[in-house]
Amino acid sequence: MTILTIKTTPYGDQKPGTSGLRKRVTVYQQPNYVENYIQAIFDSLEGFEGQTLVIGGDGRFYNDVAIQKAIRIAAANGFGKVLVGQGGLLSTPAASHVIRHYKAFGGLVLSASHNPGGPEGDFGIKYNISNGGPAPEKITDAVYARTKVIDSYKSIDAGDIDLNTIGTQTVGGMVVEVIDPVADYAALMETLFDFPAIKAMFASGFRMTFDAMSAVTGPYAHKILEEILGAPKGTVINGTPSPSFNDGHPDPNLVYCKDMHDLLMTPEGPDFGAASDGDGDRNLIIGKNRFVTPSDSLALLAANAHLAPGYKAGIAGIARSMPTSAAADRVAEKLGIEMHETPTGWKFFGNLLDAGRVTICGEESAGTGSSHVREKDGLWAVLLWLNIIAVRKQSVDQIVREHWATYGRNYYTRHDYEEVDAAIANKLVDDLRAELPKLAGRNLGDDLQVAYADDFTYHDPVDGSTSAKQGIRIGFTDGSRIVVRLSGTGTVGATLRLYLERYEAADGRHDLETQSALDSLIGVADELTGIKQRTGRQEPSVIT
Ligand code: G1P
Ligand code: ZN
Repeated sequence: MTILTIKTTPYGDQKPGTSGLRKRVTVYQQPNYVENYIQAIFDSLEGFEGQTLVIGGDGRFYNDVAIQKAIRIAAANGFGKVLVGQGGLLSTPAASHVIRHYKAFGGLVLSASHNPGGPEGDFGIKYNISNGGPAPEKITDAVYARTKVIDSYKSIDAGDIDLNTIGTQTVGGMVVEVIDPVADYAALMETLFDFPAIKAMFASGFRMTFDAMSAVTGPYAHKILEEILGAPKGTVINGTPSPSFNDGHPDPNLVYCKDMHDLLMTPEGPDFGAASDGDGDRNLIIGKNRFVTPSDSLALLAANAHLAPGYKAGIAGIARSMPTSAAADRVAEKLGIEMHETPTGWKFFGNLLDAGRVTICGEESAGTGSSHVREKDGLWAVLLWLNIIAVRKQSVDQIVREHWATYGRNYYTRHDYEEVDAAIANKLVDDLRAELPKLAGRNLGDDLQVAYADDFTYHDPVDGSTSAKQGIRIGFTDGSRIVVRLSGTGTVGATLRLYLERYEAADGRHDLETQSALDSLIGVADELTGIKQRTGRQEPSVIT
């Protein structure tokens, strides 16, 4: 076997975003685009010679091509072993678990998460470190710096590896082991949850629909929900991964899962509906007649986690991303445990989880997870919900209402303005940032008084690092809040995200429609930012 050193020229746009490097497939298909990026990752790491690298992806278009390149580059760079999911598949949480379980040096997760797939869609590569979590900024910054000057990459002179047969092969002196992508993950779930109780619930007629959105979670859900837990066949829909997600948009929200939502709002609908995204780390939870916002879901899961065997000793603390509602803060306060507010993106939870300071983490963007892995985990959230329902023997709606009656309700919504001209979006944020010092103490709208207005800076309490400019927050004295930030995962133009939250006390009104409950705050946000006038958009592209 010959190690080849191949000359290349840098690309200027390989800056990792909120979650790895996401680009259009057509961008990734440029000569050496994948090679440059993977070599730049390896060039930014030390001490991996002879170690194990995990590789897996969500099965989207180009996954198969990129995996073969990654294997050859890993062999040429001196990795001792690659663990790869059969068919090139590993959900993001399963990849995180495999890295931890087999004590790998790190992993490459090939995914663009919930972004559409297919030849015209998106692709992505993310590097995860040995704790199973996304590389911290220290590494992603180094990778970006390296991509700007890279002039060669290493590969080997070898053909494609058969990824369809479970077992071990050797390529260029490196061992490649193709593993069952589901088995280890399913075994982990069994240690965390009361499977007998969930099984008994399904046996007694509990009905659920799980939409795998033609993405990677299909095989996991078929195995765990239908085979192990005995849910009737057909519980999992769209359960076969497709490179284009069947031309769908694998984002489990009320826009792309509208049919399921509408079904859950009818008397004939099942008791419980759930979905996950392209790479299986996001979740959507809908009970009969009750959609659960991800922010509420985080609070509810944290408040009830002790009902699951894996968390029966209680949880150490909770962390949420800054734009996520403060519903979980009230749970942490009541439990007397630590609460952390971090920037958007799962990578900021890693240190807190490793240090044992938090057990449960979540984001408003349909992400919840725990210390069992270092990624958010869609099926984990679904199974914890099932565990809670099975033990409490109540409907989702009852559980949610009781929660609000105890803690109060944080009405919450996010308005996205997608594919906005980047110059307009940046100027909007810059202008608002410039206004912040003048806002404190001001009265806005009918009865809102600004308590604070800042651009969020995070001080990591574990490693002391600082991350600035993480989103503008304007908080009001009554607990309401407006947050504005630019997405770091989009691939075309800019996406402006406006997050709105209003607190209604435990004895307050909890049955308002969300958008009308937030109506006056939405008006104030538009006045402050001028979103509609500046973007020329009358409505957000997506409301979640
Ligand atoms: C979005 C979400 C964020 C999540 C990320 C990766 O990032 O808002 O919470 O961690 O996707 O799934 P954004 O596009 O806002 O930068
Ligand atoms: Zn995802």
